[in-house]
Amino acid sequence: MTPPDFVQVFRQSSPYFNAHRDSTVVIYLDGTALQHGDAALPLIQDLALLQSLDVRIVLVAGARPFIDSEMQAQGLDWQCHQGLRITRKEHLPAVAQAVGQMRIELESWFSSAQAKQSYAVRPLFISSGNWVMAKPLGIIDGIDFQHTGAVRRIETDPIKGVLDMGHIALLTSQAYSMTGDIFNLSSMDVAIEAAIALEADKLIWLVDSEHLNAARAALPTELSANDMPALLDKANLPDSTNKLLRDSYRAAQEVDRVHLLDRSQDGALLRELFTLDGVGIMINQNDYDMVRQATIEDIGGILSLLDPLEASGALVKRPREQLEMEIDYFTVLERDGTIIGCAALYPYTDNAAAELAAFAIDNKYRRGGRGGKLLAEIEKRARLAGIKTLFLLTTQTMHWFIRHGFVQADISALPSQRAQLYNFQRRSAVFTKDLA
Ligand SMILES: CC(C)(COP(=O)(O)OP(=O)(O)OC[C@H]1O[C@@H](n2cnc3c(N)ncnc32)[C@H](O)[C@@H]1OP(=O)(O)O)[C@@H](O)C(=O)NCCC(=O)NCCS
Repeated sequence: MTPPDFVQVFRQSSPYFNAHRDSTVVIYLDGTALQHGDAALPLIQDLALLQSLDVRIVLVAGARPFIDSEMQAQGLDWQCHQGLRITRKEHLPAVAQAVGQMRIELESWFSSAQAKQSYAVRPLFISSGNWVMAKPLGIIDGIDFQHTGAVRRIETDPIKGVLDMGHIALLTSQAYSMTGDIFNLSSMDVAIEAAIALEADKLIWLVDSEHLNAARAALPTELSANDMPALLDKANLPDSTNKLLRDSYRAAQEVDRVHLLDRSQDGALLRELFTLDGVGIMINQNDYDMVRQATIEDIGGILSLLDPLEASGALVKRPREQLEMEIDYFTVLERDGTIIGCAALYPYTDNAAAELAAFAIDNKYRRGGRGGKLLAEIEKRARLAGIKTLFLLTTQTMHWFIRHGFVQADISALPSQRAQLYNFQRRSAVFTKDLA
């Protein structure tokens, strides 16, 4: 990477350092990733890097392939129903052996990750404990699942204690009941329940590329949980991918963001968390505020939003007729059918610049991050339209825009058609933002 590229990448990633600091992220890693020795090392190193950036990581490691191998080695047979293994009492020693083996290997990788990585991070510890309480799954479709269990409770206090110490907390598929019985659980269920109980900011599935390929072919890469049931009903997905996405939907009812990543893609975790577009599939928790293109029916709502701001001089007056002609330039933020925010983007195609104007959030809904969200959406739309630079004129909101990456510029930075219309009495400050 050339020095200017590095500087640009570093600058673009920097907002995410703050955003992820002290956030709790539950990461599910399927057992296959852990079976192939050194192949898991780059991933473990990325986890170490994340942890050194003060991301609080709960790692849920799937042990299924380890258990399969151990059962085969011990000559044990087993049945599955609805994709879940029926764990008999005689399976338990093999399950314990396999999960123990996986834990030892993980611990050894985390120890060697520190020695093998070229960047310095602080000492890396991974801790585990009896933090998942289980109950029997019981009898389903007339089949007794015996020692296959379900999550009864996640003991969040000790997990948070371990995270406070800067350790990675490890959860596996093994859990215990109040009566001391051992149960084998679906580690994906453990991940979901842990993310919910810990009020995690994110749940990340690190899974096989086949899931990502199938999901990408059928779904957008960023979707709202609201839209998922309808999309999944229409999509023709393999059963295992369908189940993973339905599990993600369940998690997204409570967890802000659920991400699906290809575990074999080098740096997928870092690229997903520290770049604007990411590399996986992201599911946002149901969002009651909707950003959408404005239509002529929104004129009344936009006028009532802008009127008081125009009266106070914060915004320039736009008569209804002008709004009607320019409605295609407007984006609105709607909540329960009411317009609570709007913004206009006027393109100046010659130099791939666009003016951001009439940017407002209803007074009642301010300071909830909606302005930032609306701006992010406008920037996304501008990028898609090939716009390289945003500019705006403001008299009262300079600092808000500076906080969002705009820099003050001279009137000469405006496209010439716009510079000619500059109102020298209003003396607005000019701000620009490079979208490249
Ligand atoms: C600017 C505006 C869109 C922000 O909307 P919002 O939904 O409150 O934005 P966010 O929640 O993302 O950001 C809120 C933060 O910005 C700060 N902020 C709001 N207006 C500000 C201003 N004029 N200058 C500096 N900071 C400002 C708030 O104090 C708050 O800070 P905090 O997070 O430290 O508490 C909204 O205040 C607004 O509609 N203002 C009037 C219209 C306007 O001036 N538009 C710009 C015309 S160019």
